[in-house]
Amino acid sequence: MAWPTIAEFMLVDAEPEMIAAGRRLAAAGRLANATWVRSDALAPEGTADLVLASYVLGEIEAGQRDAITRKLWSSSTGTLVLVEPGTPAGYARIIAARRAVLADGGFTVAPCPHDADCPLIGDDWCHFATRLPRGDVHRAVKRVSRGFEDEKFSYVALSREPGERATARIIRPPLVRSGHVYLDTCEAGGVARRIVTRRDASAYRAARKAGWGDVLAVGPNSTPDGELS
Ligand SMILES: C[S@@+](CC[C@H](N)C(=O)[O-])C[C@H]1O[C@@H](n2cnc3c(N)ncnc32)[C@H](O)[C@@H]1O
Repeated sequence: MAWPTIAEFMLVDAEPEMIAAGRRLAAAGRLANATWVRSDALAPEGTADLVLASYVLGEIEAGQRDAITRKLWSSSTGTLVLVEPGTPAGYARIIAARRAVLADGGFTVAPCPHDADCPLIGDDWCHFATRLPRGDVHRAVKRVSRGFEDEKFSYVALSREPGERATARIIRPPLVRSGHVYLDTCEAGGVARRIVTRRDASAYRAARKAGWGDVLAVGPNSTPDGELS
């Protein structure tokens, strides 16, 4: 469970239909006692330790995104988390918001283990995936039969204080081969491909279990394969 210590939730949306749907979805879980507020994202007063805006920036007119990002950042006394679809456009919105918050004195908590510009260039974009169950309605609307889907997302977590950082983040699905694992990582020095071999048994075991999006403890036997870019 993410953030098990959160005691109070305030959920904001501009549309009453979304609030009604959210209430139904939340009725049985931890959000059952949440406060729901119908409001524009620019309007709510007050602050919170953690502010999360999920799949919202893409719904905002491009000219307003900067103002919304600043409002969300000024509302968070601790951490701001932004999540967007894991497409090149969603990633671009995340990168623009990250740049604005860093310029305003913020620090990156995740996924980047640094505050430098994103080292991905060209057609590449930083994104991850999570497996979501599909209910009957979901399957009917999408006209599919599989009971799950792998949702791609881009995200950034930004904080007011510099926190402890991972040394490396795995930014693509690991390639597990016989006797070695290839891991593409983002690190302070840029993007690297690391190879972990079974010569270091514990690092190898950890690498075989590591997933796309996990942090990687970079040890002496996880050597970069070629130059950091
Ligand atoms: C794709 S949905 C995401 C809903 C929810 N955050 C989630 O992650 O499941 C986008 C939501 O943003 C809301 N929204 C769009 N513009 C908004 C604004 N200016 N202020 C507040 N909410 C807004 C829409 O009403 C819609 O519910």
